[in-house]
Amino acid sequence: MNKNDYGFPDGFLWGGALAANQCEGAARENDKGWSTADALTQGVFGPVSIPPEGFYLKAEGIDFYHRYKEDLALLTEMGIQVLRVSIAWSRIFPNGDEEIPNEAGLAFYDQLFAETERQGIQPLVTLSHYEMPLHLATAYGGWQDRRLIDFFARYAQTVFERYKDRVKYWLTFNEINMVLHAPFNGAGIQGDPKEIDKGVLWQAVHHQLVASALATKIGHEVNPDFHIGCMIAGSPVYPLTPAPEDVLEAMRKDRDSLFFADVHARGRYPGYMLRYFREQGIDLEITSEDEELLHHTVDFISISYYMSYCATADPAKNIQSMGNIMSAVKNPYLEESAWGWQIDPKGLRYILNQLYDRYQFPIFIVENGLGARDTLMPDGQGSFTVEDDYRIDYVAAHLRQIHEAIQDGVEVLGYTTWGIIDLVSNTSNQMSKRYGFIYVDRNDDGSGSLKRYKKKSFGWYQQVIATNGASLFR
Ligand code: BG6
Repeated sequence: MNKNDYGFPDGFLWGGALAANQCEGAARENDKGWSTADALTQGVFGPVSIPPEGFYLKAEGIDFYHRYKEDLALLTEMGIQVLRVSIAWSRIFPNGDEEIPNEAGLAFYDQLFAETERQGIQPLVTLSHYEMPLHLATAYGGWQDRRLIDFFARYAQTVFERYKDRVKYWLTFNEINMVLHAPFNGAGIQGDPKEIDKGVLWQAVHHQLVASALATKIGHEVNPDFHIGCMIAGSPVYPLTPAPEDVLEAMRKDRDSLFFADVHARGRYPGYMLRYFREQGIDLEITSEDEELLHHTVDFISISYYMSYCATADPAKNIQSMGNIMSAVKNPYLEESAWGWQIDPKGLRYILNQLYDRYQFPIFIVENGLGARDTLMPDGQGSFTVEDDYRIDYVAAHLRQIHEAIQDGVEVLGYTTWGIIDLVSNTSNQMSKRYGFIYVDRNDDGSGSLKRYKKKSFGWYQQVIATNGASLFR
């Protein structure tokens, strides 16, 4: 990779990210089964509705299932090179435990990936982005059951073989470290995370880690050219003060996420986690076959990045700030979004360096963006637009910090901004929390034409891509 002072490396992949359950809609079309995402009709922290009942936005999403050609045409016009999407496991195996996949579900992604290929866009595909067949949650209790490893492996093998000529970049589980904070969202385990037995939760985590390694092994066998990554929610943790107790608390909290990258990159459990299990009396079932499988490490690490956190050992200073799925100690030096997420572009440079120092693995930033309320207004040319300078400022500031990290020597593969087309929010199930550079006319009550409009950020990002980042420095 060649670098210059104002551009990004040659081959840096610019793109956007979406997830099936938040954009596709068509919740039951072509024999798709219910997924756990359907059951969270009111968002990640709402009640679990089995079967899903009443109106919920994800049932129709932004109708990407029927409009993907139109959407890809717009993204091609924007100039993106990579599109992160996910496959809805419940389209391929509606119940999750069948032997034979659903041909109609496979056919949908055949068409989608044929279209990305036709448009010259590289797909980056997540196997499980906060969803799994709902039946696996109700009949097996989700990932606490070891049999899910084999179900996931069968699903992974099926889609790897089917799409091996069209998809090169794969991710196993979206934000795998969030399982601990939202167990139904991440692992199909019902109940309040604080009340679920720790041993059950960690056993589910172990099963996912083994499944991720097994999928990586299978993927490399199916096509040795695959690049397979893990995906963690990346939020570095700063000590609130230089008090040594706060520094240690920050280290401990940081490891809640780093642990997942440690296992994916190093192929074994780190000592600090074995100590934790010992001290908590958590006795996991880890077979020697599991240990063997964990050695199948990933090719790269991917992260979402929205915020940093602080940590303190002093309960009196523990003022909480909202975050992505979890909350944490508020950083007094940072501003926050309308949803209370603290904004810290420099934290992205920090975590990229931290991860690269730790593993020397290439890193892909597969989510980053600003959830904000947008106002659609006439564009003066007979259509509509959004003047989203706030979003441009946010993304530009983060991209400049990625550039800094690259100058620091970090190998960054690319950047896919989150929700490049407006979609349904994961935590709150709202449309009004918008991330896109493309506006979708749909409201929280489900009204709207679903028409797409280019926001100001559309043209801005088009320029960033066309100049390989140099326009950020003009
Ligand atoms: C990440 C998820 O946690 O953050 C996405 O991978 C999610 O699915 C994104 O949409 C933004 O969160 P939210 O709650 O604003 O949609």
